[in-house]
Amino acid sequence: MGPGTCAVPSLNDPGELFGRVAPLVLDLGCGNGVFLAALAAREAESNCLGIEKKAYRVAQTARRVRELCNARVLHGEVTELLRSFPAGCAARVYLLFSDPWPKRRHSVRRLVQEDFASVLERVVEQGGEFFFASDAEEYCASARRTFASRGEWSTGSWETPEDWPRTEFEERFRQAGLPLWRFKAVRGGNT
Ligand SMILES: C[S@@+](CC[C@H](N)C(=O)[O-])C[C@H]1O[C@@H](n2cnc3c(N)ncnc32)[C@H](O)[C@@H]1O
Repeated sequence: MGPGTCAVPSLNDPGELFGRVAPLVLDLGCGNGVFLAALAAREAESNCLGIEKKAYRVAQTARRVRELCNARVLHGEVTELLRSFPAGCAARVYLLFSDPWPKRRHSVRRLVQEDFASVLERVVEQGGEFFFASDAEEYCASARRTFASRGEWSTGSWETPEDWPRTEFEERFRQAGLPLWRFKAVRGGNT
């Protein structure tokens, strides 16, 4: 485990990972950390925390963010780790190209299910935001429905500016000429 990596069974105060109190931004399934590092570099005022279940990806991310004092990565399964987070601790959450399960029959294996939405609802502060992107149109639509149907979130479109950092998989999909699908959800607010 290298600098920037944290393995903790429970997390009472995510600010402790950073040694400061600041708005917490989560990158769930952060992969190799390209997006997390870019986000932390452009948002010095935020604590940016990646969560990733594959150890070699965690190591890649830790190496990438080691010079950034506002970026950290946790090794573990997203939903399980989020259960140990304090209520209302996250200002913003990204779930970007997380699932390789594009087909409708794969839907039970996808991360965005009722259980995930309910765990996230507890962790995201009032007015906090959830951002989702996928190469699978049907998955994006069903994930959006999952949030919209809970009555706790307002969902809307998410347009990224030209200079918005791309993830590793976004880059791959763009190079393959694939369309990408996104939405955002605001907890208890207007999008
Ligand atoms: C297709 S990659 C995308 C990585 C990155 N977000 C990107 O867009 O380049 C999906 C990543 O999410 C991780 N992942 C998927 N489900 C997860 C879960 N339930 N908990 C933690 N990590 C997960 C995978 O291990 C993988 O590294």
